[in-house]
Amino acid sequence: MSFPDSSRSSRNAVPESWQRGTRFLGTRYAILGGAMAWLSEHNLVSAISRAGGFGVLASGSMPPELLRQEIQATRRRTTNPFGVNLITMNPQLPELVRVVIDEQVSHCVLAGGLPDQPTIDALKQAGIKVILFAPSLALGKRLIKRGADALIIEGHEAGGHVGPVTTSVLVQEILPHLTEVPVFAAGGIANGTMVAGLVAMGAAGCQLGTRFVVAHECIAHTNFKNAFLRAQSRDAQVTAQFDPVLPVIPVRALVNKGTQNFNSLQLQLIQEVKAGTKDRKTAQLELEHFWVGALKRAAIDGDIEQGSVMAGQSVGLVNSTQSVTDIMTELTSMLS
Ligand SMILES: Cc1cc2nc3c(=O)[nH]c(=O)nc-3n(C[C@H](O)[C@H](O)[C@H](O)COP(=O)(O)O)c2cc1C
Repeated sequence: MSFPDSSRSSRNAVPESWQRGTRFLGTRYAILGGAMAWLSEHNLVSAISRAGGFGVLASGSMPPELLRQEIQATRRRTTNPFGVNLITMNPQLPELVRVVIDEQVSHCVLAGGLPDQPTIDALKQAGIKVILFAPSLALGKRLIKRGADALIIEGHEAGGHVGPVTTSVLVQEILPHLTEVPVFAAGGIANGTMVAGLVAMGAAGCQLGTRFVVAHECIAHTNFKNAFLRAQSRDAQVTAQFDPVLPVIPVRALVNKGTQNFNSLQLQLIQEVKAGTKDRKTAQLELEHFWVGALKRAAIDGDIEQGSVMAGQSVGLVNSTQSVTDIMTELTSMLS
């Protein structure tokens, strides 16, 4: 692959955008291991950071004290930088933010909706770099004004909760026009050619989730990993929203009985919201709780039929289990 001259550093052949990413993260490689609830715990996160990437702890629905223990356990395994991912709709967000500040974590990724200003300010005042998800150019600009130190643009191909626009369109929409902060690309990325291509377009680096699920260091149940190895890209589908009375964030997962269970729950909750026996917010929270439990059931307990096997479309490109170091070497082979 050749890079446009403007993206090359005068010092060597590594594009300036990638160097900007590594400087921001404090890592050898500008590869983030995207936070995955239940799976991005100290083992996987420290392995990614030890391999030169940037691991991100998934706080998911962890109580604050467990997050503290996870941060400390990660630190015992690596002295390299790593981040923490917090879900903005978590009712314990203030307590989790406190832990991140107390533990002097260097970078915090806020996911799951627009974070409020006091949360961003509290993190920044503590000297923590704040990374936010930008679903469009306009929102990306607003997030920078609100204090984002870096952005992630994550396309529809990704595993887990997804937005409506693909990575290929988001990078064209956003990368040329948001140069104030480093912008990392995510969703559907599985190999070094793709990473190098996105960096050549101006991405500061890439975030991957699906590919790291099958890493030796990932604690996912063997059934979960095997489901990834067997799956084709088309098996990783997004859930539908049945009625605007109950807006749902689509989730991409391998289709199974768990998907049907989600659909049944959604239909039941729509009836309850329409009947006025449940308000919309409570119903939405119930759906989110469903995913937390269903993902654990599949990823940790190994019930890949009834549980949720969240996976991105790149699952079709994941064909063998590997060490994190081998994955990292492949991903960065065109940039090292
Ligand atoms: C099993 C699974 C769980 C995930 N959990 C979270 C999460 O808790 N928080 C979050 O911000 N993103 C979550 N994601 C998204 C990843 O962090 C990452 O952005 C995404 O996987 C990148 O796309 P890819 O799957 O195509 O590599 C999850 C993804 C997967 C596959």
